[in-house]
Amino acid sequence: MKGIILAGGLGTRLHPLTKVTNKHLLPVYDKPMIYYPIQSLINAGIRDILIVTGGNNAGDFLKLLGNGSDFGLEHINYTYQVGEGGIAEALGLAKYFAGDDRICVVLGDNIIEKNFIAAAEAFGKQECGARILLKKVPDPERFGVPILNGKRVVKIEEKPADPKSNYAVTGIYMFDNTVFDIIGTLKPSNRGELEITDVNNAYIERGDLAWDILDGWWTDAGTFESLFRANGLVAETGANRID
Ligand code: G1P
Repeated sequence: MKGIILAGGLGTRLHPLTKVTNKHLLPVYDKPMIYYPIQSLINAGIRDILIVTGGNNAGDFLKLLGNGSDFGLEHINYTYQVGEGGIAEALGLAKYFAGDDRICVVLGDNIIEKNFIAAAEAFGKQECGARILLKKVPDPERFGVPILNGKRVVKIEEKPADPKSNYAVTGIYMFDNTVFDIIGTLKPSNRGELEITDVNNAYIERGDLAWDILDGWWTDAGTFESLFRANGLVAETGANRID
């Protein structure tokens, strides 16, 4: 399985912090934000990694990460998203990198306390389809929210005003290679973006979406509040633990 980190976007929710740099280069306690999703993939056994970035500061990723020696890697792949077409559009850029392989996608502002090794192994045993990770949160309306019927996710709603569960769909997704066909069929949402939630809903319609609950704390870091929280959580407990 190959790994893809989505680290583009304009980070407008963090203005003026992101006026002159990319959100994923901002500090989270003692490291740049992008370090955490890279480590998450490596801990899940994935070493072939593509970073999708964009905006004016794309070159800074190369300066910061080089070929990944800080992580014991010999090589990192990079690609560039023009404009802000959404998470699923950014993922579409990974098609040639993915080749015939399965992929694990991590949003560049998602930070986890522990790891998802068990979920990655379970996905390896899945014949096909997708696998997502859910986490109980106090503010589901900020996220993709699953509608659950027993153990089945019947639909995911993106930032619903009236959430049907207390779970967020975290920004860690595992997809088989048909994800790129699905992306080709998507239409832009009301905010003019190709939504990752629509990708997941396409797998649900096929009856091919599995899920796990993510162990340990999880946070995004794309708003002032969540970035502040991420700093505190990392400072208190550390992130990306494999014990
Ligand atoms: C994105 C996804 C959302 C998901 C979240 C996780 O939201 O659209 O479904 O729950 O990431 O961090 P965004 O942070 O881009 O608004």
